[in-house]
Amino acid sequence: MPEAVLARTWRPDSWREQRALQLPPYPDPAAVEDVVRELRTRPPLVTSWEVDALRAHLADAAAGRRFLLQGGDCAERFDECLPEIITNRLKVLLQMSLVLIHGLRLPVVRVGRFAGQYAKPRSADFESVGGTELPSYRGDIVNGPEPHAAARTPDPRRMLEAYGVSAMSLNYMRALVDGGFADLRHPENWDLGFVRHDGLRREYQALVDGILDALRFMATVSGTAAGAGLERVDMFTSHEALLLPYEQALTRAVAGRPGTYNLGTHFPWIGLRTSEPEGAHVEYMRGIANPIAIKVGPDTQPSTLRSLVRILDPNAEPGRLTLITRFGASKVEAALPRLVETVRAEGRTVLWSCDPMHGNTETTDAGLKTRRFEAVRAELELAFDIHERQGSTLGGVHLELTGENVTECVGGAGGLAESDLTRAYKSQVDPRLNAEQALEMAFAIVRKRRS
Ligand code: PEP
Ligand code: CO
Repeated sequence: MPEAVLARTWRPDSWREQRALQLPPYPDPAAVEDVVRELRTRPPLVTSWEVDALRAHLADAAAGRRFLLQGGDCAERFDECLPEIITNRLKVLLQMSLVLIHGLRLPVVRVGRFAGQYAKPRSADFESVGGTELPSYRGDIVNGPEPHAAARTPDPRRMLEAYGVSAMSLNYMRALVDGGFADLRHPENWDLGFVRHDGLRREYQALVDGILDALRFMATVSGTAAGAGLERVDMFTSHEALLLPYEQALTRAVAGRPGTYNLGTHFPWIGLRTSEPEGAHVEYMRGIANPIAIKVGPDTQPSTLRSLVRILDPNAEPGRLTLITRFGASKVEAALPRLVETVRAEGRTVLWSCDPMHGNTETTDAGLKTRRFEAVRAELELAFDIHERQGSTLGGVHLELTGENVTECVGGAGGLAESDLTRAYKSQVDPRLNAEQALEMAFAIVRKRRS
């Protein structure tokens, strides 16, 4: 089966000849092609040399020499392309990465789920709202969440808006990073905003103070300003490559380099619902030169994973393929070991990353989707243990989080209860860790690795 796929000629649009799940039923297909044509003339959002640099970092993470921190919203919203939301998200990712660098003694590869995370797969095509059947909300790049037929009708022009807000988000993030927002020597940029829990604040402050002390010490002994180079950090983008017409439009050949790159993001991934080896999404992703990821779940069979690995990483190229496992705390033990063995038997070194969010989603009695901090942490800790036992490496984590003070996941040091959820529940799709819970998760990873 993988041989048949590999024998086909790949083109940026060869996915159109395969079965495509989760694509919206646009009422006017010609309007979709008009948008694709327009997008093809627009500048790329990222560059091929950034993409290649990320691939090298991910190869290091697969070998245990770096750690991947990938996080952001489940679904970005167009109207949340706002300066404070972008700054707070960057801040929480930087704070988490500082905790991880310090605690794991490894460089951290920072990848946001942002500047393009606008398309959502849905388990049902329709939902009932107040007795009316409406098409499901599929993310702002497809339709709107408002509960009426006009908003829910897929509109291809939303792809142009998604491209625009992605560019704005990325532009501001690059300006912040280039302007020294991440400079450790200016810890006022690193304040803890929403973190109220005293223990967590103290632990973080002690860590920052320790690093500043070490920098001052180095400056004294070397007689020069220590920390040169600390003003800049790398920050990469990622999103689920779900809406294939959009992805195709941003897929480009690059002068002087072999291969065809998706220049709409550094690091696209294939979601669980579109991961069939014979499907359109795998067909599209197999031909691009980016590092790519694929979600792996409790029902992923070893034979399917074997096909996927052969199709998506035919040359066993370091850093090319990341497997993001999302089983649920109660299923990881039964599911993960045989998949680790499968990949090993294929002679591949993939980057294993753990998404402890999507297998641990529950619905409260009041009908709200939530996740328990303790279940999320438990899956992550079990994944570390299982990889270690199998002689493998868990080299990254994939989290849904926000820099805002939302109440979507329960538990953690702040003790959020189910009754708190309605206070600031903002997500239209999956519940995210708030800034405090996200920072606490970073400390939990460090504690686990050091135990
Ligand atoms: C997601 O990452 O938001 C998602 C839909 O995940 P999965 O494909 O693992 O279900
Ligand atoms: Co999600």
